[in-house]
Amino acid sequence: MKFPENDIISLLDERLELNLAESTNKDLVLAEIWDEAFSKGLKELKLEYGTSQGSEKLRELVGNKLQVDKNNIVITSGSAFGIFLSILCLCEKEDEVITVQPNFPPTMDLIEGLGFNKKLLILSFDSGYKMDEDQLFDMISERTKLIILVSPLNPTGTVTKTEEVKRISNRLKVEYPRCKLLIDETYREATYGNNEVIPSCAGLQDNIITVSSLSKCHGTPGLRIGWLSSSDDKFIKDVGVAKMNTVISNSVLDEYVACEVLRKEAEIFQSRRIHSAQGLELTKKWVENNAQYVQWIEPRAGALCCIKLKESKFSREELAGFYRESRESGIQLANGEWFGESKWFFRLGFGYMEIEQLNQTLEKLTEILNQNS
Ligand SMILES: Cc1ncc(COP(=O)(O)O)c(C=O)c1O
Repeated sequence: MKFPENDIISLLDERLELNLAESTNKDLVLAEIWDEAFSKGLKELKLEYGTSQGSEKLRELVGNKLQVDKNNIVITSGSAFGIFLSILCLCEKEDEVITVQPNFPPTMDLIEGLGFNKKLLILSFDSGYKMDEDQLFDMISERTKLIILVSPLNPTGTVTKTEEVKRISNRLKVEYPRCKLLIDETYREATYGNNEVIPSCAGLQDNIITVSSLSKCHGTPGLRIGWLSSSDDKFIKDVGVAKMNTVISNSVLDEYVACEVLRKEAEIFQSRRIHSAQGLELTKKWVENNAQYVQWIEPRAGALCCIKLKESKFSREELAGFYRESRESGIQLANGEWFGESKWFFRLGFGYMEIEQLNQTLEKLTEILNQNS
């Protein structure tokens, strides 16, 4: 088996009604973007192959948003495929990739799955999941071809500042010019209410790659549309060729719908950001009211956060009871172990369910905490 088993697969295959495990904002239904022009375009759409780099219109829309040229963008099947293609194109046998832990599990598992060496920079709850730059540089070697940072981070919603990314990128240019820095910005636009959107790192420096997608902030993970940006023309060409050799192109149907989602994103964002802000507020109160059992680090973006169950309150057996009873009550939880944390952590998604249902689910979770501590 190339890839280790990870129960995060249950998020796809086994959905419980009270879903606190999901990392996306509310799912978009097509009716939200359906109008006459959309319907007409859809009827006339030719189901031909797409292009290797991806639909020009879609790249233009993404380019406008990131303020980079459309030629510096490749459309991918979600951020996941952008990460896959980057590792594949940059690494040779014996090369290594560094990323952070906790993290979205496939990002960590892909490195070894593709046959390269994985090095993990461990981030901890106690240091606010902040990265130590010197520790990062101590891990880099001449064989390191790629560093993958995630901002906002899944499962924590914590952010790496643009100045820090610039500093790392500048230092890499001097000390390790063959190593690229990939910033996974999948949750960048999933902010709360009127909070300022975190700026993209796209186009900042030649050694920076960014990936993102329509999965989290737009509520359309099923479209499987994302993008990769880089100002290194040779790398963009390599990625296009690797894409053509693996999946040929994206689906033109997905690309068509994605253009419409991007054209209407202001409205899509507005309702989802208000919803996330309400979900965050509710979660904050829940953490305060349950302070005897749980701790957290408030997230900056992304409709998710990491909840720590206090070890002084939960023995191993009680913890097992907590997860078991949650499940029996129809509550889906994302166990910290999926992300490389311990079982005393779980990811709580507060942007997926309707607010009333989120409230009821959190109340139920309080009962379960009471019974299992
Ligand atoms: C940090 C991060 N990166 C990438 C992905 C992949 O998402 P997608 O391929 O749907 O864009 C996810 C999904 O959960 C994620 O959390």
